[in-house]
Amino acid sequence: MNSVTVSTPSKKYYVHTGAELLSAAGEIAAPLRGTGKALIVSDSNVAPLYAERVQKSLDHAGFTHQLHVIPAGEQSKNIHSLFPLLNAMASFGMTRADTVFALGGGVIGDMGGLAASLYMRGIGLVQLPTSLLAAVDSSVGGKTAIDLDAGKNLVGTFYQPDLVLYDTDTIATLPGEQLANGFGEIVKTGMIRDERLFKASAAEKIDAAAIANLVHRCVEIKRDVVRSDEKETGLRMILNFGHTFGHAVEKCSNFSIPHGFCVAVGMALITAACVKRRICEPEVYSRLVAALRVRGLPAATRYSADDLFASMMADKKRASNTVTLVLPREIGVVERRKVMLDEAREFLEEGLELTKNAQEAVA
Ligand code: NAD
Ligand code: GLY
Repeated sequence: MNSVTVSTPSKKYYVHTGAELLSAAGEIAAPLRGTGKALIVSDSNVAPLYAERVQKSLDHAGFTHQLHVIPAGEQSKNIHSLFPLLNAMASFGMTRADTVFALGGGVIGDMGGLAASLYMRGIGLVQLPTSLLAAVDSSVGGKTAIDLDAGKNLVGTFYQPDLVLYDTDTIATLPGEQLANGFGEIVKTGMIRDERLFKASAAEKIDAAAIANLVHRCVEIKRDVVRSDEKETGLRMILNFGHTFGHAVEKCSNFSIPHGFCVAVGMALITAACVKRRICEPEVYSRLVAALRVRGLPAATRYSADDLFASMMADKKRASNTVTLVLPREIGVVERRKVMLDEAREFLEEGLELTKNAQEAVA
């Protein structure tokens, strides 16, 4: 088992990565949270696969528990699922001494985290990520959210979990597309902070042990970033590399394209524009696109600049008439640049122009 300690101004917690951790969830959580009430929040794909392991473990540790299941997918990450979840917490009679166990991918982690932060102004939260994307990114760092019709993650809080347990056995049931989805965020983490991680993420052959190592390294990097900027006032913005245009692709697709695929496209667009502007060498773009190809991720989009820009307007990262873009300089090095919206549109158009004839998968 690998462990990382995340220390933020608001909370300090462990992120454990290893085999059979779902079956140990109750035992590991009990000393941290006490054995009160536990609401397992999960989705319709993950609950049939893994809820029983968590239930048995909670039984064994002495928790009283219930299971709340939400239909799988981004379409559930909204107010219509959040309210029934909050009502379920109230009907169960939960108090601040009790704990939400968010068992699933980023959708469940983001919404379960938001519910835990809102209910009684904050109760316990254990993140049990089951998707690769949730393991490497969303379960760590305390961002919680739901989407609005106007855009992604427009309602949310910063609320750190009390514990994160990534059971590497869950990768066995993860569909291939979801593995690629997680690699979108792994490639991103290499691009912003660590060339070695980037190279490892682009290896032709990759086994479960190698993936566990990649998860561990991503969590270490996220720990370092979040420790120095919990509330995204500066450095943490680098974690949004590829997201400004990626979220626009996601919204244009009505959330039908997985998040990591959209981030992949967003990284390709912004990197292509940076080559044009000589912010980075062409090799940065070609290596990025090669890594995305190896992992089965797209590097171009069929949506128009008009459609993507309209979607960007609603993105929460837009402060008045500016947006902070994260620009690659080298593999492993990025800079933050606050630009006017007109200039952001120019970056987008340049990225679309340069990627349109690429022989790469299109989202
Ligand atoms: P998801 O939660 O929809 O999971 C993807 C799919 O995989 C779902 O169908 C789910 O049921 C299934 N699944 C998950 N684990 C499985 C397993 N072990 N076996 C079989 N099926 C499994 O999506 P995601 O890609 O995990 O997360 C995307 C979400 O995370 C987006 O909403 C995104 O905005 C958010 N996100 C948040 C942060 C953050 O910092 N909070 C960071 C990145 C992404
Ligand atoms: N996923 C971006 C962040 O946690 O800040």
